Amino acid sequence: MAGAIAYVSRDTDGQLWNKALQAGLGPVDFRTLETLGDKADIEVVLAWKPPAGLIASFPNVRMIVSLGMGVDHLLADDRLPEGVPITRIMDDGLVGQMSEYAIYWALRHHRDIDKYAASQRARQWKPEEFVDTIHRRIGILGLGTIGQDTANKIAALGFPTAGWSRTQKTLPGIETFHGLDGFTRLLARSDILIDVLPLTRDTRGLLDAKAFAALPKGAFFINMARGGHVVDEALLAALDSGHLAGAVLDVFNQEPLPPEHRYWTHPKVRVTPHIAGATNPRTASPGVIENIKRLRTGGATNPRTASPGVIENIKRLRTGKPLIHTVDPKSGY
Ligand code: GLV
Repeated sequence: MAGAIAYVSRDTDGQLWNKALQAGLGPVDFRTLETLGDKADIEVVLAWKPPAGLIASFPNVRMIVSLGMGVDHLLADDRLPEGVPITRIMDDGLVGQMSEYAIYWALRHHRDIDKYAASQRARQWKPEEFVDTIHRRIGILGLGTIGQDTANKIAALGFPTAGWSRTQKTLPGIETFHGLDGFTRLLARSDILIDVLPLTRDTRGLLDAKAFAALPKGAFFINMARGGHVVDEALLAALDSGHLAGAVLDVFNQEPLPPEHRYWTHPKVRVTPHIAGATNPRTASPGVIENIKRLRTGGATNPRTASPGVIENIKRLRTGKPLIHTVDPKSGY
């Protein structure tokens, strides 16, 4: 049998992944943290928040799969084995979940649903002032796969939609900004701000007092990316001062969010427990299985190590097709 697949996560027991991989690959030597056995057997690691240094102790590991779309939980380990390709979960199901989450909260805010819920509790028949869709500007931080999907769906609803990315991007129907100057300009035109950026050295603490002040008065903030982007005190101050109308937070600097945290009870904050895009092996496994098959048949996912991968990528490049779910540890996504 081919090398073992280690499932390294404390969040679930991995049995759904075991099943999904067996269904796609045939018999799999599936190991968990409890049943790791000889570390030299491990060929592929599926990881979510792995203990620092653990993956480096697998001498024969050939591919690291992030069990999340974000890879900050992996790159936090400064002993990751060099040169071993890192891939990540990325599939239409997950991307769709993320967009749904953003659109749900954006529309709920846009159509004043929480105000109507309060009016209903008070038995008040009270139409709110309506803001036309074409005057509700939505800004998206991050224009990777998720950001683009969210932007396109929101733009299709008729909202003036803009996005910001580190490097310049052009997207039909979406106003795009990049760089630091572009960041402030994007903020200044965002009545609803949606964060889908990766967490990297450059984005940690990006949403500080200055950033929140740059948003228009009455803006609404949706964070479905990483809590580490946000300076919590700055966000709370912007909400308390009335500068921001509200915030929806799915991710936090500390998870689970500690019971005493102000976010839980803040009247302008909605909290969800990091579920905007939950990794589901049933939807995510086809991508992982494809990558494991490529690894085993020499069609490697790492274009630096095997000619079939290089050839495949050259073909993809020439036909305008994207490469497969690889991560650049230097950029952090
Ligand atoms: C979840 O946060 C993920 O990175 O998939």
